[in-house]
Amino acid sequence: MINYTLPKPKDFEHNIDGKNTHLLTLTNRTGMQIALTDYGARLVSALVPDKYGNLVDVILGFDSIQGYLRAQEKYHGATAGRFCNRIANGKFTLEGQKYTLAQNNGSNSLHGGPGGFHERVWDRQVSFKKKIDFYYVSPDGEEGFPGELKTNVSYELTNENEIVIQFRATTDKTTVLNLTNHAYFNLNGEGNGDTQNHILHIPSEKFIPINAQQIPIGEEYPVRGTAFDFTTPKKIVKDLHAEEEQLRFAHGYDHTFVNIQPINTAAATAYAEQSGISLEVFTSEPGVHLYTGNFLTDDKGKSGHKYLKYGGFCLETQHYPDSPNHPDFPNVILHPGEVFESKTIYKFGVRK
Ligand code: GLA
Repeated sequence: MINYTLPKPKDFEHNIDGKNTHLLTLTNRTGMQIALTDYGARLVSALVPDKYGNLVDVILGFDSIQGYLRAQEKYHGATAGRFCNRIANGKFTLEGQKYTLAQNNGSNSLHGGPGGFHERVWDRQVSFKKKIDFYYVSPDGEEGFPGELKTNVSYELTNENEIVIQFRATTDKTTVLNLTNHAYFNLNGEGNGDTQNHILHIPSEKFIPINAQQIPIGEEYPVRGTAFDFTTPKKIVKDLHAEEEQLRFAHGYDHTFVNIQPINTAAATAYAEQSGISLEVFTSEPGVHLYTGNFLTDDKGKSGHKYLKYGGFCLETQHYPDSPNHPDFPNVILHPGEVFESKTIYKFGVRK
């Protein structure tokens, strides 16, 4: 059994681009604890009770800032933005104006580009020992995106073992945005085997198919009769290795499910039998992106634990990838004077 504790604050004291970084922690009344860092407005750890009452860290990550600096392209726990997921060839047109973004995924822009939000040191404010707000002002033109974007992400730990994440943003020029949290979960504890045996339930009837460059082809496919059918709970491994082109393109699941659930109904639920820990995801976003850690490659994570392929999975709540090039997809355009708001809840429980 692994004895899980939170990383040490002093290992997160560093200076990046002239700004100091920190580790911040919250504890609730049931003993659940979370740790965050202002470097990338990231979720570092979540210690939640398993069915025996032991605290288990269900988030993959690192013991120090250096670990995150080394594995930037994995986006562990990070706020991904300005535009999470891919924009084809890093190009789009908005109000007749063509924009070219920094490319970092072949010719695509991924998760805001190489200098995306995951790499920035955010300002921070702690409220009533239960909520942490991070703030970042992204200058006009950063990574090629138009408009100065004032961004706020808050993480609140409730006494119901929920992490409530809220995004807010405003702009001074018409722009596009898509914000998500990129935490990798292993509900048996980070570093404790892989997550192929987790049972997943996603009530979506449709998903967004992609091409070989992992860019949406502009359609919605029905999940019924495919590996993408999680409408009845099943183990991730059940169809993960099926001979399906969609899975081949992404080396596993790396796809957005169309979410029509209201915020009070889970858009996705994961459960691990060994620990008994469950995770329910509630969101105001129109998509839930399931990523099964297909590109994890032997990283040395917390306490030297190895993170192999499928060692963690992400349930990234977001708008659909490449939306700026698909006017039929739900709107990702933000105008001056509007406030972008989005809410996601990760709720942990145990089944005995
Ligand atoms: C997202 C993408 C994946 C991969 C990871 C980071 O989930 O969709 O293809 O880039 O981020 O490794």
